[in-house]
Amino acid sequence: MTNQERIAALIAKRDEASQAYYSGESIISDDEFDLIIEELDALGYQEESVGHGYVPEGKVLHKQRMLSLKKVFAREDIEQFVAATEARKYTIEYKYDGGAASLIYDAEGYFERAVTRGNGFYGEDITDAVRDMIRAGRVPEFIESKNMSTEVRGEIVVTHEDFERLNESELGGDYSNPRNTATGIVRRKKVTGIGDYVSFVAYGGDLPTWQLEEEGFLTSMEHLFETVTENHVENIMALIERIEVERRSLGIDTDGVVIKVADQKTRDALGDSSTAPRWAVAFKFQSEVKQTRLNAVEWRTGRTIPVAIFDPTVLAGVDVARATLHNYTFLKEMDIKIGDTIDIKRSNEVIPYVIGRHGEHGEESTEIAFPEACPTCGAPIEYKNKDIVCSVGGCD
Ligand code: IVH
Repeated sequence: MTNQERIAALIAKRDEASQAYYSGESIISDDEFDLIIEELDALGYQEESVGHGYVPEGKVLHKQRMLSLKKVFAREDIEQFVAATEARKYTIEYKYDGGAASLIYDAEGYFERAVTRGNGFYGEDITDAVRDMIRAGRVPEFIESKNMSTEVRGEIVVTHEDFERLNESELGGDYSNPRNTATGIVRRKKVTGIGDYVSFVAYGGDLPTWQLEEEGFLTSMEHLFETVTENHVENIMALIERIEVERRSLGIDTDGVVIKVADQKTRDALGDSSTAPRWAVAFKFQSEVKQTRLNAVEWRTGRTIPVAIFDPTVLAGVDVARATLHNYTFLKEMDIKIGDTIDIKRSNEVIPYVIGRHGEHGEESTEIAFPEACPTCGAPIEYKNKDIVCSVGGCD
């Protein structure tokens, strides 16, 4: 295959993946997508403009490509990053696990448009959803530090508290965790009211974080914003260890920390690779799986979500004794019984969940009792989508 043929094949693959992504079905992971872009770059292929290639109808091109972050997992990677960047000062903040978005403010300083990250070149218009967040007071409608057009980047997240409240409200959907809620809910057709449950954590774009904070955005500074100015590798590693435990009580899903060169001039000098800035890396936390004995299943009120009650165990540094079993259908398909050993996991989602049965059924295991009536009001129940709901309606 010649270089030209390889480039053509990669472009076709990239466009097919983009198309699939926008019809709601990912055929490759974000990392695989980035590999395609990196290979195109290595072969000397130049994008003529941001988003060159297939742009599906109804999608919006980004003003500037939204890059990914290089992922690192070990001390050696941090050593390499510090050696390659040679900065005096680094900042450490959470890597939020939601959906990245770009908010544009117009020349007068008013909110104009919002777009999801999508594939980095173009994303989905979520302006209406962000307007509802403005109504709810969760995103500023106006900024003082206006320019011709000002871009604010950040992550759309749903806090654990809002996730619970949402599931108990009539806007609750079929989302199994806060992350899926964050990426899904803003893309709904009807977004009225969702702003009361969704947050936007700003961390970049045209304005520095401290200025975003002054403009009234919720920023990463609110949660974690450590700086390291000496013994860089040592201090960064010590912070990561501390934060890995602390993040458990943040109440927002995080899947790592982002280590950034603090100074804008140094950032500009370092620039970007084809997929990620050279001035930042994401240190990803490892997820942990544990085995324990399932002792009971409780049916919570609301959308009657099954909750597993098990022998308490320490999972990723925290005592847990309960985990979500997602929904009625999941529980049925898993074929688990009371007394079985189960695998539980806590990873990016801070809320622990049951992965499935570990090994065969226990000898003395007994069937799980499914509710025959609404656990809240006693009315008959109905099976709706993947859930069990109250037939009267007021309890779901
Ligand atoms: S800075 C890449 N800071 O992580 C350009 N990104 O793989 C600089 N993310 O989609 C991004 N928390 O949405 C930055 N505190 C944080 C972040 C963060 C989450 C997301 C970002 C991007 C992904 C990178």
